[in-house]
Amino acid sequence: MMNAEVNRVERLQKVLAQAGIASRRKCEELIQSGRVKVNGEVITALGHKADPLQDQIEVDGQSIVRENYVYLLFHKPKGVITSVEDPRGRKVVMDYIHGIQERVYPIGRLDYDTEGLLLLTNDGELTYKLLHPSHEFDKTYHATVKGVPSPEKLERLANGIMLKDGMTAPAEVKLLDVLSYGRESVIEITIHEGRNRQVRRMCDAIGHKVSYLKRVKFGFLTLKGVERGAFRRLSAEEVQNLKGN
Ligand code: URA
Repeated sequence: MMNAEVNRVERLQKVLAQAGIASRRKCEELIQSGRVKVNGEVITALGHKADPLQDQIEVDGQSIVRENYVYLLFHKPKGVITSVEDPRGRKVVMDYIHGIQERVYPIGRLDYDTEGLLLLTNDGELTYKLLHPSHEFDKTYHATVKGVPSPEKLERLANGIMLKDGMTAPAEVKLLDVLSYGRESVIEITIHEGRNRQVRRMCDAIGHKVSYLKRVKFGFLTLKGVERGAFRRLSAEEVQNLKGN
């Protein structure tokens, strides 16, 4: 589902939630308890509308950040570079992001040939936080591999496997499907780390090359309702959950 750029004038609780103050519900409580001012006037009515770029909005006397943060969940197709531009003229994720005025950037990356869930934002603080090893959310991938890995090999993947940049952390691994009478199979791998080409290298290391890879989950976020090549905005609640408050 593509989103056209929305009118900036929104109900005050939505403006506050989008600015990352708190969840929409908590923002309603802030307003009702008289802690929010718009252009110097205390506003307690939940129906009040405000423009985050034009109006002076304060919570407990502190001005809220006027920057309009945008958070997008994109269903990246295969054959697209996770980059804003490509000197070689290949397709990049920004070719798919229309109707958004702000300049957004991918949070982390998916390989050219990997498809699936990719987040984009202009919120540098959230990007930093989500990419930091101590905060990384679990990411779930469906990997189509050559042959059918034995239970022992799946256990090796799950326990940690030696790659050239060290042991991988424990992962959750499940055999999901066997295709073409065992010529291929689909495994689900959930990892916490985000090393370069990690899933492909893990599968290579057990002798089962990946022929198709898709990220189906990032933390609590899934691709539900988002067609390949389309994107949607995250809700204020989803942003709050990513931020961890
Ligand atoms: N692991 C990979 O091998 N590739 C990706 O794009 C993401 C995770």
